[in-house]
Amino acid sequence: MNQAAVTYELIKTDKKTGARLGRLHTPHGTFDTPMFMPVGTQATVKTMSPEELKEMGAGVILSNTYHLWLRPGEDIVQEAGGLHHFTNWDQGILTDSGGYQVFSLSKLRDITEEGVHFRNHLNGEKLFLSPEKSIAIQNALGSDIMMAFDECPPFDSPYEYMKTSVERTSRWAERCLAANVNPERQALFGIVQGGGYKELRELSARTLASLDFPGYAIGGLSVGEPKEKMNEMLTYTTPLLAADKPRYLMGVGSPDSLIDGVIRGIDLFDCVLPTRIARNGTCMTEHGRLVIRNAKYAHDFGPIDASCDCKVCRNYSRAYIRHLVKANETFGFRLTTYHNLYFLIKLMKRVRSAIKEDRLLEFREEFFESYGFNKP
Ligand code: GUN
Ligand code: ZN
Repeated sequence: MNQAAVTYELIKTDKKTGARLGRLHTPHGTFDTPMFMPVGTQATVKTMSPEELKEMGAGVILSNTYHLWLRPGEDIVQEAGGLHHFTNWDQGILTDSGGYQVFSLSKLRDITEEGVHFRNHLNGEKLFLSPEKSIAIQNALGSDIMMAFDECPPFDSPYEYMKTSVERTSRWAERCLAANVNPERQALFGIVQGGGYKELRELSARTLASLDFPGYAIGGLSVGEPKEKMNEMLTYTTPLLAADKPRYLMGVGSPDSLIDGVIRGIDLFDCVLPTRIARNGTCMTEHGRLVIRNAKYAHDFGPIDASCDCKVCRNYSRAYIRHLVKANETFGFRLTTYHNLYFLIKLMKRVRSAIKEDRLLEFREEFFESYGFNKP
C-alpha cells in the first residue's frame, strides 16, 4: 500500500452504464465496492454486535462526529485508543463531519465564514463547530475516512444562497485538508454540494477536484427531492469526479436508489433507513417491504424472506418476530435489524456480480419487478 491512507482500486467499468466494480483499501482492511455502510451514530450500529456486522459482510461502518463529540467526548475515545479500540470494531470506519447533523438537529444556528454557532440538541448549551474543530475531533476519533465539514442547505434554497453556500463549503474543504494532522492513516473526502442546480454542482465538483481529495462524496441529496431529480443530479455530477477515486452518495439506502446510484457511478452509500425501519418492525424483502406487526403474520411460521439465507431467516419465523416486535422485546428488533442490513449488503453483492457478468441493467429490471418498484 502506498502513502495514502485509503486507496481505490478500479477493477471494472460497466460498458452499458456508469457502474464500477472496485476495491477500497483502508488501514483497517479492504472491502469490495459498490458497498453499503451500516450507520452507527453513537459508536454502535443499534442492536448489532461488531461480530454480527462482520459475519454479515459489513467491511465498513459509519459513525458521527457530532454525537461522539457531545457524548462521550472525543477525548475519551482517544484515551481508549481510538474508535476501533473503543468499540471493538477492527474494520473500516467512516465518520461524518457533523455539518449535516448541525443543520438537521439544531434549529437555532448562525453560519459564519469561521464556522457554525448552534445549540446542543440535548441540553440547549451553546456550541461552535468549524472545519478545524471537526477535523480535530475526527483525528481524535481515528476514523479511516473523515468527511469534510460542509453545509447541506435545503434542496429548494434560492440560487444566490446556494452559490454563497457552495463557495463557502469549498473554502471550508480546503481548511479541512490543511487541518488533517494524520493524512497517512486517515483519508479526508470532499463533499460536493449545489442542491438542484447543475451549474453549482459543477462549480462544487471542479473546485473540490482541484484540491485533490483521495475520495469524493455527493451530499445534499435524498433531502426530500423527487427520486428523478436525485438521479438527474447524479447523472450530471459523477462524471465530473475523478475515475480513479471512490465516490460516495451520502444518506441513501432504499434498494432502488442504491441500484440507480451504482448505475450512475456511485461506489459507497450509507443510510439509517434499514436499521431505523427495522426498529418499527418493517423488513426489506425480495418482494418489497413487509410490516411484521400486520395481523396476517400471526400464524405465519415461514421466514421473513423465503429467498434470504441470513441467520434470522434460517432460524426464526414471522409469527415469532411479530410477537417480539409487538411486545417491544429487544430481541425482535435485533432480528429485524440483522435481516435488513444483511439484505442490503447482499443486494450490493448481487449488484457486484451483475456488473462482473455484464448484466446490471437486466438485474435492475428483475429486481424492480420483484420488489414492486415498477408498479404505478
Ligand atoms: N449525510 C447526508 N447528506 C449529507 C450531506 O450533504 N453532508 C454531510 N456532511 N452528511 C450528509
Ligand atoms: Zn433474512
